Amino acid sequence: MTPKKLLLLPGDGIGPEVMAEVKRVVAWFEKAGRAKFEIEEDLVGGAAYDAHGEAISDAAMHKAKAADAVIFGAVGGSKWDKVPYAQRPEAGLLRLRKDLGLFANLRPAICYPALTEASSLKREVVEGLDIMIVRELTGGVYFGEPKEIVTLESGEMRAVDTQVYSEHEIERIARVAFDLARVRGKRVASADKRNVMKTGVLWNAVVSRVHASTYKDVELTHILADNCAMQLVRWPKQFDVIVTDNLFGDILSDQAAMATGSLGMLPSASLGGKDANGRRAALYEPVHGSAPDIAGKGIANPIATIASFGMALRYSFDMGAEADLLDAAIAGALAKGLRTADIMQDGMTKVSTAGMGEGICAELERLSQL
Ligand code: IPM
Ligand code: MG
Repeated sequence: MTPKKLLLLPGDGIGPEVMAEVKRVVAWFEKAGRAKFEIEEDLVGGAAYDAHGEAISDAAMHKAKAADAVIFGAVGGSKWDKVPYAQRPEAGLLRLRKDLGLFANLRPAICYPALTEASSLKREVVEGLDIMIVRELTGGVYFGEPKEIVTLESGEMRAVDTQVYSEHEIERIARVAFDLARVRGKRVASADKRNVMKTGVLWNAVVSRVHASTYKDVELTHILADNCAMQLVRWPKQFDVIVTDNLFGDILSDQAAMATGSLGMLPSASLGGKDANGRRAALYEPVHGSAPDIAGKGIANPIATIASFGMALRYSFDMGAEADLLDAAIAGALAKGLRTADIMQDGMTKVSTAGMGEGICAELERLSQL
């Protein structure tokens, strides 16, 4: 077995705590002889700023480029509120996305059967929910230039962000969405704001063109992004795959996450294109943030980060059976009643971050013996 190169970037806040549970799961897979990993670790976000004065060092970027997959915790916290904009913790994550070319962000929103009551939405609305948000991640208003605050002659300040998309950026993300839909429910909803934005007009046209040329077997609908937000709380199960731009994807994926019961449950994968050797850069991270308010208390939910490692098994390492096993172990730990504070319910067993990691490893052990 050639060892897979993993770079762990725990980051700030609860990042190191949830990453510790990923290490526990990685150790289980190694001990069980199901995989071998070569693991490196480095700083990102505020932790990197404190150590090197920047949100990610060149050395860490170098390791990220050499890795088969990066597992990312979370960045940010009020401690770094006064840090210059270019060095703010989030800049580390944005540099990773941009420099590794991670244009496709896959954010599944799955409602585990054990958690149907934890959602703020009614049981019948979320039960069995399984949707995939495909967010464009290296373009749009996140990276468009100019991006600045200028002082006008009058002395008034003016801020500009630029929403910009080229055809190839829309085309490649549309293909990712259609390919995923083919192995899921065969339906794609493309969300844009073509009624107000030129980027929306182009987005709509390019997605339609890609569909007509190659993906007629998949059903395509276009939806305005605001209506999509509304439909996600009204009847989220109408969706299979949603494809959208960077900013709308940021917002819609947080919204979809809440339908599942907790932001602490959702993993994500950020993928680049394949190079000539079939290799592609990949970063896996929980959708939740660094949650500074609960950091260091050992109460954070590690499931999103563990499930992100599961996505690495599936999408980077072609270890679908192991990924399925890990998903089943997470569902199993939940079915046994284990709950971190964020998803606690009457009659269940409240566990710490480590308790949940241990519970998932116990389920891995049990399920692999069946
Ligand atoms: C996310 C986060 C990031 C984003 C932040 C931390 C820069 O909200 O991954 O959704 O806006 O993309
Ligand atoms: Mg976000």
